[in-house]
Amino acid sequence: MTKVLKTKWHILCVLAAALLLALSMGGCHVIPMSDGGNKEGVTSIIGVSQANMREEWRVALINELREETDKYEDISIVTTDATGSASKQIQDIDNLIGFGIDLLIISPCDEKIMGDKIKEVHDAGIPVIVMDRAVEGFDYTLYIGPDNEVIGMQAGTYIVDLLGEKGGDVIALVGNPASVQGTERLSGFKAALEEAQNINIHEVYLGTESKDAAYDMILAAKNMVEKVDVIFTYSDTMALGVCDALRSMGLDRKVMTVDCDGFKGVDEGLDLVSQGRLKATVSCPIGGKEAIDYALSILNNESGVPKQVILRSNIIDSSNVEESINRINAQTADDGKKIRVGYSQVGQESNWRLANTKSIEESAKEFNIDLHMEIADQSQEKQFEAIRSFIKEGVDVIVVSPVVETGWDEVLREAKAAGIPVIMSDRNVVVENREENLTTTYLGADFVEEGRRAMRWIRDNVAADGGTMKIMEIMGNTGASPTEERDQGFREILSENPGYEISYSDYGDFTFEGGRKVVSEYLAQHEWDIDIIFSQNDDMALGAIEELKAHGIRPDEDVKIISVDATTEAFEAMVRGELSCAVECNPIIGPQLMKAVRDLCSGKQMPFRIITDEKVYDQSVADDYIRKRLY
Ligand code: AHR
Repeated sequence: MTKVLKTKWHILCVLAAALLLALSMGGCHVIPMSDGGNKEGVTSIIGVSQANMREEWRVALINELREETDKYEDISIVTTDATGSASKQIQDIDNLIGFGIDLLIISPCDEKIMGDKIKEVHDAGIPVIVMDRAVEGFDYTLYIGPDNEVIGMQAGTYIVDLLGEKGGDVIALVGNPASVQGTERLSGFKAALEEAQNINIHEVYLGTESKDAAYDMILAAKNMVEKVDVIFTYSDTMALGVCDALRSMGLDRKVMTVDCDGFKGVDEGLDLVSQGRLKATVSCPIGGKEAIDYALSILNNESGVPKQVILRSNIIDSSNVEESINRINAQTADDGKKIRVGYSQVGQESNWRLANTKSIEESAKEFNIDLHMEIADQSQEKQFEAIRSFIKEGVDVIVVSPVVETGWDEVLREAKAAGIPVIMSDRNVVVENREENLTTTYLGADFVEEGRRAMRWIRDNVAADGGTMKIMEIMGNTGASPTEERDQGFREILSENPGYEISYSDYGDFTFEGGRKVVSEYLAQHEWDIDIIFSQNDDMALGAIEELKAHGIRPDEDVKIISVDATTEAFEAMVRGELSCAVECNPIIGPQLMKAVRDLCSGKQMPFRIITDEKVYDQSVADDYIRKRLY
């Protein structure tokens, strides 16, 4: 770590003393510090505020954070346990700040209550990494967490395949019903099983997540257990209890166990799969490793830090357990070998796209990556050709920004068969079967959230006083993920606000001309009767503005205009008083992409999604930000 800060060893000593004093007085529940107190060269302290230490995976997270921190001489962590109380967690954070932490990692007890506290810390200039439960808004530095519903669903789908046409009986062992994580996993699991009509689920409630309780329960339910095919439970601890009980009853060869967690370590999920005692586990990195990795990048002011990292979960059984353990242990390495990347870029339709292409080309040079980019001019056929040519060339990684979401399965299977991993950049694809793992990760914006932000700005700034406000939606190209998802997010918030309706919508293909055409075709058929235009990108909004002006309709005065992207041209239009608001979609994803390429080539486990940092701007702030725009 290269950050130059004053040595904090003495602060750590004071901190250790203060925390121990607080502990001895019973006023502060502190998990003893990692051996950071013995490190002399510490320049940065990371404060970790854990929601509670009752749930096993939270303990695992703290252990992983410690393990990772121990690899660096110059950083140290201090951890606190909020014991499930939000007011205690607020107090813990104040203590940590008082002790001079440089970065806060928090797993919030209550995402709503803690949201304000997180904002306060972030506003005070201390970077905050939120883990596990996302908070509303964007007043934090980075969010890292899993998708628990998907984890449960993966376990369910695996069991459905396992039982096949015959179907069967499954016990779902439920731990603590108050655990949000467990509840989400269970709900995903049940959703997957419900689709298969031939499986009966028997829910058995433990009320706690301990190994012993699971063991006792399985023994007590012997009559039922003998008749079932699979026992599902959503944590490694409970799974170990189940496996032990099955063995003691001589049923371990007859009844299969499937769980979630897949932790490494003796008798944890991966080990139980290796021993052949657990049929499968859905593993998901707990994120400690990723958190420390990103904390270092943040403290070093490195580029390439995203806004959200959604961790990848995988089904692990005997067929891939060894490979998975190797992957978890892999470190990012720069062995000096030049990585070759084939990039299929969608086109040159907008200023956003030009900035995006530039960012990728410049970052490839910066990261010493050999980039071969093909521009597809909005043609899926051309993208297929490009991908096939990259396969022939034998590149190390293929990156695709797809023109539309669907139709990629075949060509992606070809890349997989050739052993070339594929990263989706900026736009994502929808594949027939997620379990095929045809892509490694998605890096780009949260388009659904962009749509929501646009409608939230309208709700808060364009009053629907009395009548209904009529909205024109100018969409991108049919079938593209930003088109579909921005529309979805926009309509989601719209549906909660009865004073607004979309009265006209058409496609403008993300181009200036397309935006102009949508307005001109509307005017050819109607008198102007629109209060708000929501344009899915800036270029179309600027085209619409030109057309409105040509017809004597005053943008922003006669009609409010909200667009997505927030390019310099959009800022200029806001400063001129023509565009009302721009929701940011950040095209500068080159550094994050190249970091992901490096990680992938080092054999590192890739997150499911890596989401970029974005904000909302309107005329009230446009002047302040225009000079700082990078695109
Ligand atoms: O996929 C991102 C979108 O595509 C941008 O919002 C738009 O301007 C671009 O062409």
